[in-house]
Amino acid sequence: MSTYEILTIPHPSLKTVANPVGAVDGSVKKQMETMLETMYAARGIGLAANQVNILNRVLVMDVSDREEGEKAPICMANPEIVWRSEEMSSMDEGCLSIPGQYALVERPMAVKVRYWDVTGEEKLFEGEGLASHCVQHEIDHLNGILCIDYLSKLKRNMIVRKVEKMKRCGEL
Ligand code: NI
Repeated sequence: MSTYEILTIPHPSLKTVANPVGAVDGSVKKQMETMLETMYAARGIGLAANQVNILNRVLVMDVSDREEGEKAPICMANPEIVWRSEEMSSMDEGCLSIPGQYALVERPMAVKVRYWDVTGEEKLFEGEGLASHCVQHEIDHLNGILCIDYLSKLKRNMIVRKVEKMKRCGEL
């Protein structure tokens, strides 16, 4: 079992647009598995490739209630939002690259996402509520966008400084 190192802000890879994958080949499949291990080890519900310094359009997520012991991993390559609800939802979002901080983000309450799964098959994901926020948050990562980018510049800078201070103090 291996894991990747998770980058924290303000690493430049977190502000970079990731490239589509040509196919879900052996190396992409391995990457998805290692990203899942990394996400579970960090107790996250989603992880995008940029966060582990790989600039391809791959994300993993699992929004199931892990207290129940049931895992429901989802791996996506080249995810694309094909439908958004008009109804909006606001939720406090956390991010493994912005430890200990939260941002209140408003997004469509429900989305449909077309993607390639771990076998390379095209699938449609329908998410609502937490699952909708999570998949949009991870797709944002692939576009170099962070949840704190939805905050005012003042709040965003405050969070960046807090995380930088945590790093300087060896808390990360
Ligand atoms: Ni994140």
